[in-house]
Amino acid sequence: MDPIVTVAGLTKRYRLGKDNYVDALRGASLEIARGEMVAIMGPSGSGKSTLMHIAGCLDRPDSGEVHLNGRRVDQLRGRALTTVRGREVGFIFQGFNLIPTMTALENVALAAEYAGASRRDAADKARSLLELVGLADRMRHAPTELSGGQQQRVAIARALVNDPAIVMGDEPTGDLDTATSAEIVGVMREINTERGTTFVLVTHNPEVAEVCDRTIHMRDGIVEAVTA
Ligand SMILES: Nc1ncnc2c1ncn2[C@@H]1O[C@H](COP(=O)(O)OP(=O)(O)O)[C@@H](O)[C@H]1O
Ligand SMILES: [Mg+2]
Repeated sequence: MDPIVTVAGLTKRYRLGKDNYVDALRGASLEIARGEMVAIMGPSGSGKSTLMHIAGCLDRPDSGEVHLNGRRVDQLRGRALTTVRGREVGFIFQGFNLIPTMTALENVALAAEYAGASRRDAADKARSLLELVGLADRMRHAPTELSGGQQQRVAIARALVNDPAIVMGDEPTGDLDTATSAEIVGVMREINTERGTTFVLVTHNPEVAEVCDRTIHMRDGIVEAVTA
């Protein structure tokens, strides 16, 4: 296996006050292969989001190792962590998180401009990705003029705009109806197959997991099982 993410013995404790804490991760370990599409499932509170945030360089563990695309990242902090995250990871969220005052095109292009692309290159890239996700005729629409599924397509284009090694989604179909969920996971599967982008999706939806290559099952802050 050519791992793109290796997580070993991860622990994370949230302190809520004196003598009051939650052990969100209690020694979680997993490997994700380059080019894979993987689901993470488990009860609410089992540590799925915490694990994904640490693997995606949004947060740091208390102990354990994280290797992302060939680089050890668990001890990075501040700007070093931000730089790796910007280069290697694209994120998709449950609530789409688009900027409401910007068009679809501007939402996607902005992410490329943040990463240093010229205005023109950013717009070109945004256009071609919006075409890829099936929104060629919706580029000038604001998020409120788009359905939930269309908004999530914009978010997928945005997640891809800086050519990340891996795209991470935290319940990316959580706000969508069954048919639209299937459609959105289908878009991701197509991109995974055609471009080789690795996807990791936290999901409660067994139909989303069914489309993935493997499912990582979490319970009480550890990886309890992995099924294919
Ligand atoms: N920022 C935080 N501060 C305090 N506790 C947190 C924080 N984030 C998560 N937790 C707690 O850590 C545990 C794991 O949370 P999380 O990783 O969000 O689980 P999941 O995504 O599987 O629902 C839960 O008990 C949650 O309440
Ligand atoms: Mg969560």
